[in-house]
Amino acid sequence: MEIASIKGFRDILPEETRVWQWIETTARRVFEDFGFQEIKTPILEKTELFSRSIGEETDIVSKEMYTFDDVKGRSLTLRPEATASVVRAYIQNRPYQTYPVQKLYSIGPMFRHERPQRGRFRQFHQINAELFGDPGPKSDADMISMAVYLFRSIGLDDVALNLNSLGCSDCRPRFKEALTDYLADKVTRLCEDCQRRATSNPLRVFDCKVDSCKEVVSKAPSIDAFLCQACRDHFESVQDALSDLEIPFVLNSRLVRGLDYYNRTTFEIQTERLGAQNAVAGGGRYDGLVRLLGGPDHPAIGFAVGVERVVALIGDDHPLQDRRPDLFIAALGKAAERAAFKWAVDLRRNGLWVEVDYASTGLKSQMKKADRIGARHVLIVGEDELKTSRAALRNMLTKEQADVELKDAVNVLKEMLKDERERDGRD
Ligand code: HAM
Repeated sequence: MEIASIKGFRDILPEETRVWQWIETTARRVFEDFGFQEIKTPILEKTELFSRSIGEETDIVSKEMYTFDDVKGRSLTLRPEATASVVRAYIQNRPYQTYPVQKLYSIGPMFRHERPQRGRFRQFHQINAELFGDPGPKSDADMISMAVYLFRSIGLDDVALNLNSLGCSDCRPRFKEALTDYLADKVTRLCEDCQRRATSNPLRVFDCKVDSCKEVVSKAPSIDAFLCQACRDHFESVQDALSDLEIPFVLNSRLVRGLDYYNRTTFEIQTERLGAQNAVAGGGRYDGLVRLLGGPDHPAIGFAVGVERVVALIGDDHPLQDRRPDLFIAALGKAAERAAFKWAVDLRRNGLWVEVDYASTGLKSQMKKADRIGARHVLIVGEDELKTSRAALRNMLTKEQADVELKDAVNVLKEMLKDERERDGRD
């Protein structure tokens, strides 16, 4: 019997990994230009790392974590997000002792036991960035602009930046109180989870997908009316900086995000092209988390991009789409096969993608194969060609054929490929 993959977990096949590579390469380039360095943290962590940081009342912690006991009975969890792990690593390795502002990015799989649907998987991937050690609005604007530039660099301009402030430990309690009061006489209209949340963690009612809960919160008070002067000033400075950078944004006072650790600036990059799963990236400031997890009182801000959703938005329209072999060497006869095998390796070491036939087949079958794999050029070599040191180089797109000196083949090919690339506008 065939063994299939688990529901919500999927293979990413070569046709698709090209776009993934392009997105990841672009992210690395953009992030490194902003001074970020890569960090790799484990996929498995102690469960309490996530429950303490993301919050017991969140959907992620209360319903969606892959948690199990190891052989020693310790509770472990497959990471549902990267922030908690990066904060743990920051506290554990103390990089701030060398340099107080730390900018870290990471790329990798996350795990959430959600109901799979379009744009939502149980194993999905995030490109994640975190900045530690600066409390000011400039670092908020820097982070947000980095996310926006990443989207522009991969050609996604039709996304909207949503912005909100969730206040701080001074002003948020007043908002929570107002929200609790508002929900008090409406609890019977809330789902079972939200009835509990209405008193324990009322902000989480905003995340609920149940229609009756959505209707109740639609008329709830909004946070913007409760911000203290310091949070108001901070938020205005973030908006001014974004305006200076000519980055358009939409103020969205309902944007509370699904994780408990946020304060002040929160943001999401949204699209209308993916149905219900409209967030392609999300993040915000989390000034209290490092201390909450036992570290120093250092502020932080970050965001994560959902790679599957970005891939779905890009489709086939990306520069690596047309990657195919530069050359196929069709060799006829034992001596030519041996020479072709050696040339292929030499040419590859010169930066060309070269294919040869492993089975000794005739010219017709080799030409068919070259065509099927989309080779740009075919070099045809037999006994005569070896003797004269000249061979036919066929351009498979234009069908033009040139007679080339074998020892010049690398240079001729390189020139041809350079011209083609320039003509097609490829790098
Ligand atoms: P998040 O909003 O939970 O934030 O996730 C960020 C992004 O990951 C979402 O906008 C979405 O694109 C993608 N995503 C989330 N769940 C799924 C899923 N089941 N399937 C596919 N894509 C998904 C965080 O995770 C925070 N740690 C972001 C952050 C970093 N905040 C500060 N630093």
